[in-house]
Amino acid sequence: MSDTKRREELLKGLDAKFKAVDRDAEPFLEGLQHAKLLTYWDYIQTDVLLNLQTQRTVFPDELVFITYHQINELLFKLILWEIQQLAEMKELTGLVFQEKLSRASRYFDMLTTSFTIMKDGMDPKQYEQFRHTLTPASGFQSVQYRYIELASTELINLIDLRFRSTIDRNTPYEYAFEHMYWQAAGKDFKTGKKSILLKNFEDQYKNDLLDFMGAYNTKNIWTRFKSLTEEERQNKTLLDAMRHYDRTVNITWVMAHYNTAKFYIEGQGKTAEATGGSDWQKYMHPKYQKRIFFPELWTDKEIENWGVDA
Ligand code: HEM
Repeated sequence: MSDTKRREELLKGLDAKFKAVDRDAEPFLEGLQHAKLLTYWDYIQTDVLLNLQTQRTVFPDELVFITYHQINELLFKLILWEIQQLAEMKELTGLVFQEKLSRASRYFDMLTTSFTIMKDGMDPKQYEQFRHTLTPASGFQSVQYRYIELASTELINLIDLRFRSTIDRNTPYEYAFEHMYWQAAGKDFKTGKKSILLKNFEDQYKNDLLDFMGAYNTKNIWTRFKSLTEEERQNKTLLDAMRHYDRTVNITWVMAHYNTAKFYIEGQGKTAEATGGSDWQKYMHPKYQKRIFFPELWTDKEIENWGVDA
């Protein structure tokens, strides 16, 4: 196609675009003449991004701590982005499903392998000091992490094991919410009293979480997987991808995180209290939580030994 022809085609395309919204293309073309040329820093918002790391202490390694958490949140965002597309897709095929799941897994793999930045990339003496300034904040309060869980599996799989038998599909979301496995980090189930860690989190996000819970009840990864054809569901590559995602999120990442917590909190040989104040050793280990997104894809033995050898 000649250059002139190509230009004509482009103008026709623009005319059609503006006509569709009852406008002329000319003012837009006029405006284009004066528009600033795009730069990398405007597009990526580099200056804004690099101004988001506000330290609360003078310790240099606090910058590592803040920045790595922010990187995590950005990757959580990308994971949710893929899951959301998978959830909304009208005509979902096994191939597209696998593609989206692999993308989400790849991001989570990145979070898992990079966790050494937390364990080996900070001076323990500095961490020991600046962590007190951060009390009672905790990664526990990452709402995107909770969204990823809710978007990945059936709600029942996120209920504290002790209460699963009291919940079915007709249970109000509010009741289910009060019995999510993570309530155990800050709730006294006998008195109903909640720690400040949990209370602050719920004040900020409870309503959003309840809405999200309702929305993903029928379009989470597992429900979408079940909507595939029998043949697609039996596809070994897809099954391996499902198991990989489950293991990465619920064992490998959890253990990288757990070992880091152990290193810093116990390693100091002092009181084993976390910034969020939970009984973290018991709370965080996968063998206690037994959080499994796709239990139907594991054998009874594998479920029994979930996280035991990790
Ligand atoms: C030195 C690094 C870290 C330590 C020592 C640490 C420690 C802890 C502890 C002790 C808890 C239990 C709740 C509490 O009492 O605070 C927790 C929960 C949590 N942290 Fe971290 N953490 C670290 C880094 C991170 C990073 C980089 C992330 C990424 C966003 C993160 C995300 C989470 C999440 C999502 C939970 C809740 C887990 C669950 O409910 O099972 N943490 N962390």
